Amino acid sequence: MKVLVVGATGATGQAVVQELQSRHIPLRALVRNPYKAQAIWGNSVEIVAGNVLDRYLLTEAIGDCTHIICTTGARPSLNIFGPLQVDYLGTKNLVKAALQQKIEHLVLVSSLLTSVFFHPLNLFWLVLFWKKQAEEYIKKSGITYTIVRPGGLTNTPTTDNLVMGRADTLFSGRIPRATVAQVCVAALLCPAARNKIVEVVTSPTAPYIPIPELFAQV
Ligand SMILES: NC(=O)c1ccc[n+]([C@@H]2O[C@H](COP(=O)([O-])OP(=O)(O)OC[C@H]3O[C@@H](n4cnc5c(N)ncnc54)[C@H](OP(=O)(O)O)[C@@H]3O)[C@@H](O)[C@H]2O)c1
Repeated sequence: MKVLVVGATGATGQAVVQELQSRHIPLRALVRNPYKAQAIWGNSVEIVAGNVLDRYLLTEAIGDCTHIICTTGARPSLNIFGPLQVDYLGTKNLVKAALQQKIEHLVLVSSLLTSVFFHPLNLFWLVLFWKKQAEEYIKKSGITYTIVRPGGLTNTPTTDNLVMGRADTLFSGRIPRATVAQVCVAALLCPAARNKIVEVVTSPTAPYIPIPELFAQV
Protein backbone atom coordinates (compact mmCIF):
# COMPACT_ATOMS: atom_id res chain seq x y z
CA MET A 1 0.00 0.00 0.00
CA LYS A 2 1.19 3.51 -0.82
CA VAL A 3 -1.10 6.47 -0.18
CA LEU A 4 -1.25 9.71 -2.14
CA VAL A 5 -2.38 12.48 0.21
CA VAL A 6 -3.97 15.25 -1.85
CA GLY A 7 -4.13 18.67 -0.18
CA ALA A 8 -1.36 17.47 2.12
CA THR A 9 -0.20 20.94 3.22
CA GLY A 10 -3.70 21.80 4.47
CA ALA A 11 -4.55 21.39 8.14
CA THR A 12 -6.34 18.05 7.75
CA GLY A 13 -3.87 16.91 5.09
CA GLN A 14 -1.00 17.40 7.56
CA ALA A 15 -2.89 15.36 10.16
CA VAL A 16 -3.37 12.58 7.59
CA VAL A 17 0.35 12.59 6.78
CA GLN A 18 1.12 12.34 10.51
CA GLU A 19 -1.34 9.47 10.97
CA LEU A 20 0.13 7.54 8.03
CA GLN A 21 3.66 8.13 9.30
CA SER A 22 2.71 6.94 12.79
CA ARG A 23 1.41 3.70 11.24
CA HIS A 24 4.49 3.34 8.99
CA ILE A 25 2.33 3.40 5.85
CA PRO A 26 4.27 4.66 2.80
CA LEU A 27 2.90 7.91 1.37
CA ARG A 28 3.42 10.64 -1.17
CA ALA A 29 2.19 14.17 -0.53
CA LEU A 30 0.62 16.01 -3.46
CA VAL A 31 1.03 19.73 -2.84
CA ARG A 32 0.55 22.94 -4.76
CA ASN A 33 3.61 24.53 -3.19
CA PRO A 34 6.68 22.32 -2.68
CA TYR A 35 8.47 25.10 -0.71
CA LYS A 36 5.65 25.11 1.82
CA ALA A 37 5.83 21.31 2.01
CA GLN A 38 9.60 21.40 2.47
CA ALA A 39 9.20 23.88 5.32
CA ILE A 40 6.73 21.53 7.05
CA TRP A 41 8.41 18.16 6.57
CA GLY A 42 11.94 18.77 5.28
CA ASN A 43 12.99 15.61 3.47
CA SER A 44 10.96 13.22 5.64
CA VAL A 45 8.02 13.06 3.20
CA GLU A 46 8.03 12.27 -0.52
CA ILE A 47 6.57 15.33 -2.21
CA VAL A 48 5.05 15.75 -5.65
CA ALA A 49 3.91 19.09 -7.03
CA GLY A 50 0.40 19.10 -8.47
CA ASN A 51 -2.96 20.72 -8.67
CA VAL A 52 -6.34 19.04 -8.86
CA LEU A 53 -7.22 21.41 -11.69
CA ASP A 54 -4.61 19.69 -13.90
CA ARG A 55 -5.71 16.15 -14.63
CA TYR A 56 -2.59 15.18 -16.55
CA LEU A 57 -0.29 16.23 -13.72
CA LEU A 58 -2.52 14.18 -11.42
CA THR A 59 -2.01 11.01 -13.44
CA GLU A 60 1.74 11.46 -13.15
CA ALA A 61 1.53 12.39 -9.49
CA ILE A 62 -0.34 9.20 -8.62
CA GLY A 63 2.56 7.17 -10.04
CA ASP A 64 2.98 4.00 -7.98
CA CYS A 65 0.44 4.98 -5.31
CA THR A 66 -2.33 2.43 -4.71
CA HIS A 67 -4.68 4.45 -2.47
CA ILE A 68 -5.70 8.13 -2.21
CA ILE A 69 -6.87 10.32 0.66
CA CYS A 70 -8.15 13.68 -0.58
CA THR A 71 -8.41 16.55 1.88
CA THR A 72 -8.58 19.45 -0.57
CA GLY A 73 -10.99 22.31 -0.18
CA ALA A 74 -11.26 25.73 -1.78
CA ARG A 75 -9.53 28.27 0.44
CA PRO A 76 -11.92 31.15 1.34
CA SER A 77 -11.48 33.79 -1.35
CA LEU A 78 -13.31 36.25 -3.57
CA ASN A 79 -13.19 33.75 -6.45
CA ILE A 80 -16.83 32.74 -6.80
CA PHE A 81 -15.72 29.70 -8.79
CA GLY A 82 -13.38 28.41 -6.03
CA PRO A 83 -15.61 25.62 -4.66
CA LEU A 84 -16.86 24.72 -8.16
CA GLN A 85 -13.28 24.38 -9.35
CA VAL A 86 -11.56 22.76 -6.36
CA ASP A 87 -14.32 20.85 -4.56
CA TYR A 88 -16.18 19.63 -7.65
CA LEU A 89 -14.15 19.80 -10.87
CA GLY A 90 -10.87 19.12 -9.05
CA THR A 91 -12.29 16.06 -7.30
CA LYS A 92 -13.75 14.88 -10.60
CA ASN A 93 -10.29 15.18 -12.19
CA LEU A 94 -8.81 13.22 -9.32
CA VAL A 95 -11.34 10.41 -9.67
CA LYS A 96 -10.73 10.18 -13.43
CA ALA A 97 -6.96 10.01 -12.89
CA ALA A 98 -7.45 7.49 -10.06
CA LEU A 99 -9.55 5.22 -12.27
CA GLN A 100 -6.97 5.46 -15.04
CA GLN A 101 -4.20 4.52 -12.60
CA LYS A 102 -6.27 1.69 -11.09
CA ILE A 103 -6.32 3.15 -7.58
CA GLU A 104 -7.78 0.57 -5.17
CA HIS A 105 -9.59 2.92 -2.78
CA LEU A 106 -10.19 6.67 -2.60
CA VAL A 107 -11.15 8.48 0.61
CA LEU A 108 -12.63 11.97 0.29
CA VAL A 109 -12.98 14.39 3.20
CA SER A 110 -16.27 16.16 2.49
CA SER A 111 -18.52 17.83 5.11
CA LEU A 112 -21.62 17.39 7.22
CA LEU A 113 -24.71 19.04 5.70
CA THR A 114 -23.76 18.68 2.02
CA SER A 115 -27.35 17.63 1.32
CA VAL A 116 -28.77 20.84 2.87
CA PHE A 117 -28.96 23.37 0.04
CA PHE A 118 -30.43 26.22 2.11
CA HIS A 119 -27.55 26.36 4.57
CA PRO A 120 -25.57 29.53 5.41
CA LEU A 121 -22.31 27.79 4.40
CA ASN A 122 -23.60 27.79 0.82
CA LEU A 123 -23.25 31.57 0.94
CA PHE A 124 -19.56 30.79 0.46
CA TRP A 125 -19.96 30.21 -3.27
CA LEU A 126 -22.17 27.12 -2.86
CA VAL A 127 -19.41 25.15 -1.18
CA LEU A 128 -21.71 22.47 0.28
CA PHE A 129 -23.58 22.16 -3.01
CA TRP A 130 -20.37 21.55 -4.96
CA LYS A 131 -19.08 19.07 -2.39
CA LYS A 132 -22.36 17.18 -2.80
CA GLN A 133 -21.94 17.12 -6.59
CA ALA A 134 -18.45 15.68 -6.09
CA GLU A 135 -19.87 12.99 -3.79
CA GLU A 136 -22.50 12.07 -6.39
CA TYR A 137 -19.82 11.84 -9.08
CA ILE A 138 -17.68 9.53 -6.93
CA LYS A 139 -20.64 7.27 -6.14
CA LYS A 140 -21.43 6.82 -9.85
CA SER A 141 -17.81 6.58 -11.01
CA GLY A 142 -17.24 2.92 -10.13
CA ILE A 143 -14.21 3.67 -7.94
CA THR A 144 -14.04 2.07 -4.49
CA TYR A 145 -14.59 4.97 -2.13
CA THR A 146 -15.24 6.16 1.38
CA ILE A 147 -16.68 9.65 1.79
CA VAL A 148 -15.99 11.04 5.25
CA ARG A 149 -18.23 13.95 6.24
CA PRO A 150 -16.83 15.63 9.35
CA GLY A 151 -18.50 18.22 11.55
CA GLY A 152 -16.73 21.47 12.42
CA LEU A 153 -12.98 20.86 12.38
CA THR A 154 -10.78 21.73 15.37
CA ASN A 155 -7.06 21.52 15.99
CA THR A 156 -7.38 20.52 19.64
CA PRO A 157 -7.11 16.79 20.36
CA THR A 158 -9.91 15.42 22.52
CA THR A 159 -10.59 12.48 24.80
CA ASP A 160 -14.21 12.50 23.58
CA ASN A 161 -15.25 9.42 21.65
CA LEU A 162 -16.04 9.20 17.98
CA VAL A 163 -19.63 9.17 16.76
CA MET A 164 -20.19 7.82 13.24
CA GLY A 165 -23.51 8.00 11.42
CA ARG A 166 -24.94 7.25 8.00
CA ALA A 167 -25.36 9.96 5.38
CA ASP A 168 -27.69 12.79 6.42
CA THR A 169 -28.12 11.72 10.04
CA LEU A 170 -25.80 14.15 11.90
CA PHE A 171 -26.46 17.87 11.71
CA SER A 172 -24.11 19.45 14.25
CA GLY A 173 -20.97 18.78 16.24
CA ARG A 174 -17.24 19.17 16.05
CA ILE A 175 -14.27 16.87 15.57
CA PRO A 176 -10.49 17.29 15.77
CA ARG A 177 -8.65 17.05 12.46
CA ALA A 178 -6.42 14.34 14.00
CA THR A 179 -9.52 12.18 14.58
CA VAL A 180 -10.69 12.76 11.00
CA ALA A 181 -7.23 11.61 9.89
CA GLN A 182 -7.59 8.42 11.96
CA VAL A 183 -10.96 7.72 10.32
CA CYS A 184 -9.55 8.31 6.81
CA VAL A 185 -6.59 5.97 7.30
CA ALA A 186 -8.73 3.35 9.04
CA ALA A 187 -11.11 3.47 6.05
CA LEU A 188 -8.33 2.26 3.76
CA LEU A 189 -7.67 -0.71 6.03
CA CYS A 190 -11.24 -1.70 6.79
CA PRO A 191 -13.34 -3.63 4.23
CA ALA A 192 -16.56 -2.43 5.95
CA ALA A 193 -15.69 1.16 5.00
CA ARG A 194 -15.89 0.49 1.28
CA ASN A 195 -18.45 2.41 -0.76
CA LYS A 196 -19.94 4.21 2.22
CA ILE A 197 -20.63 7.79 3.22
CA VAL A 198 -19.99 8.30 6.92
CA GLU A 199 -20.65 11.35 9.07
CA VAL A 200 -18.31 11.90 12.01
CA VAL A 201 -18.19 14.09 15.11
CA THR A 202 -16.90 13.53 18.64
CA SER A 203 -19.00 13.53 21.80
CA PRO A 204 -18.25 13.34 25.55
CA THR A 205 -21.26 11.08 26.06
CA ALA A 206 -20.57 8.58 23.27
CA PRO A 207 -19.31 5.12 24.25
CA TYR A 208 -15.92 4.00 22.95
CA ILE A 209 -16.33 1.81 19.88
CA PRO A 210 -13.34 0.88 17.67
CA ILE A 211 -13.42 2.54 14.24
CA PRO A 212 -13.76 -0.73 12.25
CA GLU A 213 -16.86 -1.60 14.31
CA LEU A 214 -18.30 1.86 13.69
CA PHE A 215 -17.80 1.37 9.94
CA ALA A 216 -19.50 -2.00 10.15
CA GLN A 217 -22.52 -0.48 11.91
CA VAL A 218 -23.07 2.25 9.30
N1 LIG B 1 -13.29 23.97 8.48
C1 LIG B 1 -14.24 23.16 8.89
O1 LIG B 1 -14.78 23.28 10.00
C2 LIG B 1 -14.71 22.05 7.99
C3 LIG B 1 -15.79 21.25 8.37
C4 LIG B 1 -16.17 20.18 7.57
C5 LIG B 1 -15.48 19.91 6.39
N2 LIG B 1 -14.44 20.72 6.03
C6 LIG B 1 -13.72 20.36 4.79
O2 LIG B 1 -12.66 19.51 5.16
C7 LIG B 1 -11.60 19.62 4.20
C8 LIG B 1 -10.29 19.90 4.94
O3 LIG B 1 -10.42 21.11 5.66
P1 LIG B 1 -9.12 21.90 6.17
O4 LIG B 1 -9.60 22.95 7.10
O5 LIG B 1 -8.07 20.96 6.58
O6 LIG B 1 -8.67 22.57 4.79
P2 LIG B 1 -7.44 23.52 4.47
O7 LIG B 1 -6.50 23.63 5.63
O8 LIG B 1 -8.00 24.80 3.90
O9 LIG B 1 -6.68 22.71 3.33
C9 LIG B 1 -7.18 22.63 2.04
C10 LIG B 1 -6.10 22.04 1.18
O10 LIG B 1 -6.56 22.00 -0.17
C11 LIG B 1 -5.48 22.40 -0.99
N3 LIG B 1 -5.95 22.88 -2.27
C12 LIG B 1 -6.77 23.93 -2.52
N4 LIG B 1 -6.94 24.07 -3.86
C13 LIG B 1 -6.20 23.08 -4.44
C14 LIG B 1 -5.95 22.71 -5.77
N5 LIG B 1 -6.48 23.38 -6.80
N6 LIG B 1 -5.15 21.65 -6.01
C15 LIG B 1 -4.58 20.96 -4.98
N7 LIG B 1 -4.77 21.27 -3.69
C16 LIG B 1 -5.57 22.32 -3.43
C17 LIG B 1 -4.78 23.49 -0.20
O11 LIG B 1 -3.49 23.69 -0.72
P3 LIG B 1 -2.50 24.83 -0.10
O12 LIG B 1 -1.99 24.24 1.18
O13 LIG B 1 -1.48 25.00 -1.15
O14 LIG B 1 -3.35 26.06 0.12
C18 LIG B 1 -4.78 22.85 1.17
O15 LIG B 1 -3.70 21.97 1.28
C19 LIG B 1 -12.03 20.71 3.23
O16 LIG B 1 -12.63 20.15 2.11
C20 LIG B 1 -13.05 21.50 4.05
O17 LIG B 1 -13.97 22.17 3.23
C21 LIG B 1 -14.04 21.76 6.79
